[in-house]
Amino acid sequence: MEQTQTKRIVLGITGGIAAYKAAELARLLVKQGISVQVAMTEAACHFITPATMQALTGRPVLVDQWDAADNGMAHIAASRVAEAIVIAPATADFIAKLAHGLADDLLSTMCLARDCPLLVAPAMNKQMWANAATQRNVRQLIADGVQVLGPDSGVQACGEEGMGRMLEAEQLVKDIMDFLRNGKSAGTVSPIPDISVRAHEKEPSQPQTRKLSGKKILITAGPTYEAIDTVRGITNRSSGKMGYAIAQAALEMGAQVTLISGPTAITKPQGAQAVDVQSAAQMFDAVKQHLAGCDIFISVAAVADYRVAHPSAQKIKKGSGNLTLELEPNPDILAYVANLPNPPFCVGFAAESENLAEYAEQKRRAKKLPLLVGNLVQQAIGSDDNELVLFDDSGRQTLPRADKLTLARLLMQRIAQRKKGALQ
Ligand code: PMT
Repeated sequence: MEQTQTKRIVLGITGGIAAYKAAELARLLVKQGISVQVAMTEAACHFITPATMQALTGRPVLVDQWDAADNGMAHIAASRVAEAIVIAPATADFIAKLAHGLADDLLSTMCLARDCPLLVAPAMNKQMWANAATQRNVRQLIADGVQVLGPDSGVQACGEEGMGRMLEAEQLVKDIMDFLRNGKSAGTVSPIPDISVRAHEKEPSQPQTRKLSGKKILITAGPTYEAIDTVRGITNRSSGKMGYAIAQAALEMGAQVTLISGPTAITKPQGAQAVDVQSAAQMFDAVKQHLAGCDIFISVAAVADYRVAHPSAQKIKKGSGNLTLELEPNPDILAYVANLPNPPFCVGFAAESENLAEYAEQKRRAKKLPLLVGNLVQQAIGSDDNELVLFDDSGRQTLPRADKLTLARLLMQRIAQRKKGALQ
């Protein structure tokens, strides 16, 4: 692994079961040549001992606000010599404290008194993560310029499965090293947030800047319908809400939007050129027809991977035995577009029921996409709210749970930023 000398971080550990992962995180950071000063909350000490962290980092651990060390000024001194404070794990309670500027122990006081960037790695039960209060607090942290790393989805310590697991130590080290490489002055995270810019990001319901003026965006949305016979078919529960919200957000940013949609029951955003299709084959034809001059292609549709090989021209009559349907693969529309000689900027979606990070990243690489948006299908499909995880070459970023239009606006801002150079 690459060595980075003389960089210092404060590793803040708060009281959650993921605290045990902080030991491995500290070990890997030290291995990278980082000087790690650990600060723990009292609750964290119930999960892992300061002695362990001291042994791994070679430095006494800061816990007590009233300790006479550093002349009682540890809350000031520690961050003054650090490139960043990293809170891993960050519990829901600690995130709430940060969001409200509370300072009732050494670590929270240190965060409030810092003059360096703050990175937090949330870790909590999936319901705590999904709770409106936590989501509000996380949005507040992002608006305040705090970098939020993760969380991930998967099996949790409580036995439930979902979003809220802390990122693995290896991933956190990669994110922290990326951050340190960019440096404090590169402005990756601003310790004193630029409220005008951040507030815009925090309140995407405000009018969007027309950053995509004159750009042509092609979006697929909704389900596809693969006929079995004249009245029956194979489809899925995609409502079209996510794709239509993205079309709406792109229109607000001044883009010229073509929305190719499978059958849905919702109203198309005004101003989009709407193309209605049924099957994946029809969607494929429509995409090819509207691709010319397209700057960005966003594939939100839940396209059927298979279609019935021989759909019946008449209603199939009920028989006494089993009925076998032969299915054949549909073309992969997104893979086709992404592999064209001069493809538009391609954004894929992946709805997974488990192992979101692993499967989504696999899809991104297989389809050669610069950006893939992952969501948990059980939370995403048909619902009004969603949570998105963005995967690209630099790693992943979570857009916390919100209504789909809010997320769509944030996503379109991210896409516009990534495409800025190429689109200007
Ligand atoms: O419509 P909603 O109710 O709001 O729900 C939104 C959603 C859950 C459908 C959406 O957010 C989403 O995740 N869409 C992708 C669904 C999915 O899992 O796709 P996939 O993993 O089968 O395909 C991966 C990507 O390839 C997708 O971008 C898909 O559009 C594309 N694809 C897939 C197969 C195929 N034959 N052609 C494609 O273009």
